[in-house]
Amino acid sequence: MNSHPEINGERLLARLDMFAKIGATPGGGVNRQALTPGDREARALLTRLAKARSFSVFQDDAANLFIRMEGRDGSQPPLLIGSHLDSQPSGGRFDGALGTLTAFEVLESLADAGVEPERPVEVVAWTNEEGCRFAPGCMGSRAFVEGKIPAEWADLRASDDGARFEDERLSTIDALAADSSHRRLGFPVAAYLELHIEQGPSLESEEIPIGIVTGVQGTRWLEVAFEGQTAHAGTTALQYRRDPLKALTMGLSALYAGVMPENADARFTVGRIAVAPGSVNAIPATASCTIDLRHPETAVLDRLEDDIRSGLTEAAARENVSVAIRKTVDMEPVTFSSDMVAALQAAAQKAGLPTKTMISGAFHDALFVAGCAPSAMIFVPCRDGLSHNEAEYVKPEDSVTGARMFLASVLELLPR
Ligand code: GLV
Ligand code: MN
Ligand code: MN
Ligand code: MN
Repeated sequence: MNSHPEINGERLLARLDMFAKIGATPGGGVNRQALTPGDREARALLTRLAKARSFSVFQDDAANLFIRMEGRDGSQPPLLIGSHLDSQPSGGRFDGALGTLTAFEVLESLADAGVEPERPVEVVAWTNEEGCRFAPGCMGSRAFVEGKIPAEWADLRASDDGARFEDERLSTIDALAADSSHRRLGFPVAAYLELHIEQGPSLESEEIPIGIVTGVQGTRWLEVAFEGQTAHAGTTALQYRRDPLKALTMGLSALYAGVMPENADARFTVGRIAVAPGSVNAIPATASCTIDLRHPETAVLDRLEDDIRSGLTEAAARENVSVAIRKTVDMEPVTFSSDMVAALQAAAQKAGLPTKTMISGAFHDALFVAGCAPSAMIFVPCRDGLSHNEAEYVKPEDSVTGARMFLASVLELLPR
């Protein structure tokens, strides 16, 4: 190694501003959902920045984007660092972008200092972490770990404009094909490290700049579809109604009263509801919703999922309608490698940074990559714990401190 690498905080903050302009919303956030033109523009910008530094750029069949800094021994599996560039429809500027741009800043700071590590270091921007436009989330990291695109994704359609996943995946790859080389899906990785905003309040409220993440809680997504009979609002007496919206609302209100109040660590969210035909003076024919359920323990998730299924089935029976419940996401809780956590603790000590160990309430690509390589995550505080919200905010100094911690961790993980 030549000189000691250092984070260029101004460069990182300027980059965050540049990427926040792509898909910027009037409320100060971003809408850069997976595989949309905005997502492609962000990938193209990162590729331009990488090429300007003479790093090599690769894409695989899941449209995951890799930026490689060569090592002295190019045959060694790379140290992989990164996050995602896609966002929620009404998302913030930092969720995903901060981790991806911090990883890129670390690559640049290694290059600036003339460091040539023994093994290659690669930045990755995973495809569709969020899962809001195409479910499930973490598609890129999932396909990477499985080494293939699951067959059932071919028929997926976007929740916003109905576009086919298959078409969007291929056009996204095509858009950067001239500026990147094709890569096989899934390759050996020495270790994976991801920085992210906490998306919760604990670091900010405890005034701790760095979270060392020891694992991720489990997530299940259900799609619930009630079907009854549409009929005249003015003429149909109670005993003749088969109202799917009534079943949905009665079923959900019992779940709101039970799931979270009775299970302190559970998270129960209904984020999307649709009713058809959606006429003011017709009983609906169908009513559907999504359910996002999270908990750190599989056994509790199993029990809560059973309770949700039976509660909604009973509500359907009471209203004489049918209900179909389909699971679209099942992410098991994950505990990260204790060696990785120890390396992060050693890095924080060397950098003189106070830390807190914690598990992640949000899911992340690291949850999947942990299935093929030792993985861990670093969290930085965000204002009021707010995320998946345009008002999401990270103080500039906290972003820079996170990047310093990330660089120290990368140096800890690279063989000398
Ligand atoms: C994804 O960002 C999630 O945790 O929901
Ligand atoms: Mn994220
Ligand atoms: Mn997110
Ligand atoms: Mn996430």
